[in-house]
Amino acid sequence: MDELAKRAIEVLHGNDRGTWTRPSPRLYPHQWSWDAAFVAMGWAQLDPVRALNELWSLLRGQWSTGMIPQIVFDLNVGRGKYEPGPNTWGTILNAPPGIATSGICQPPVHAIAVARIREVAAGRADGTLHEVDDAIVDLYPRLDRWHRWLRTARDPEGTGLVTILHPWESGLDNSPRWDRPLSRVEPDEMDDLPRPDLTCVADPAERPTNPEYQRYRHLVDRLIAVDYDQDKAMAEHPFRVADVFFSAILATADDVLADLAAVAGRPEESDRHRTDAARTRQALDCCWDPDLQACLDQDRITGRPIRADTIGGFAPLIAGCDLDRSAVLVDRLLGPTYAGADGLVWPLPLSTATTDPRFDRRGYWRGPQWPPITWLLWRGLKKAGHHRTANTIRTTAIDQLRDVGCTEYVEPFSGRPLGSAAQSWSAAVALDLLSYDP
Ligand code: SER
Repeated sequence: MDELAKRAIEVLHGNDRGTWTRPSPRLYPHQWSWDAAFVAMGWAQLDPVRALNELWSLLRGQWSTGMIPQIVFDLNVGRGKYEPGPNTWGTILNAPPGIATSGICQPPVHAIAVARIREVAAGRADGTLHEVDDAIVDLYPRLDRWHRWLRTARDPEGTGLVTILHPWESGLDNSPRWDRPLSRVEPDEMDDLPRPDLTCVADPAERPTNPEYQRYRHLVDRLIAVDYDQDKAMAEHPFRVADVFFSAILATADDVLADLAAVAGRPEESDRHRTDAARTRQALDCCWDPDLQACLDQDRITGRPIRADTIGGFAPLIAGCDLDRSAVLVDRLLGPTYAGADGLVWPLPLSTATTDPRFDRRGYWRGPQWPPITWLLWRGLKKAGHHRTANTIRTTAIDQLRDVGCTEYVEPFSGRPLGSAAQSWSAAVALDLLSYDP
């Protein structure tokens, strides 16, 4: 068996909790939402039914509103091992009884995962496809409610863009995209918060800073103060940003959901999902900044675009866009400020442009390369017909994972692995990318 596949399988098994998977053994001991979607695609290569269980485990935490929470907590994890833990999020009336969750969400990769599980099952000569299709009958309405919640609670005016209320919701926690809106958040006087995460990495500089954490915590407290009432939060929360990268993932997930609706025997719903996806693509088009040649997040408090040269700017490549725009974005992605930067060990997308003044080669989402982001861009390129570029990115990503292992993220100039050394979603991405080898 391929050496990388072997390592990736070991990582998944090492983090496996039976029906769900820890993103990593120490740093992230609970179940995270978008991690679970990637992880499910990894399990699909080994056992599509186990892959579905990953998603069902996550959906145990789905709120009555339809929101899929960012974290479903494992109550067996000792107090203080991860912060903010289950007791920090106040009383959550919308969570299912007996299930502890956080009170925010993460990007909606889940429908994409279900479609990929189905594709993998379809390639098997046993009856797995029937089993997967049966599950989709029950999964579809859950995913539909999730997408509807995003398109109503987080986009009440139907703009096509999803507003996030916390940088953690973006998945790209400390991206320079959030520096400005976060700088306006004024945390109450608080002592330094517990940071168990800092003990799980080689160097604390790989993680967000204490001032960032104080603001993260303050935003949680503000959501608790309104009992997670989304109308109130959308009117007065101190951090409200229309996130183009999140919205792009929703658009491509809506395309996929249109197909899943048909599999679930609900073909009459497909057009609604396609219309939603088209509306988001149009909205992304309006967020285009011709100078930066990037798609920019919109600060809903100031009404202004957020200028930052980051991977978020490539949102149209994830969502799908016209040929001219995708050609411009491919050039930039492969160009000297991203994958083509001088001195990179692997020419792969960076989380922030080298020329952005806030670029930081070791700083979590402020520069390093992240396997799941590479995967999302690879998928977007493939769907847009940029087959050669997509394939080069795929093989380079495999080379990188072969060398560094299933690490959380990578210092792009030294090639040093950063963050957690056994990250489930990196293992999942490795297995999925390898499965395309001729
Ligand atoms: N990524 C966050 C963390 O670092 C939470 O979603 O803990």
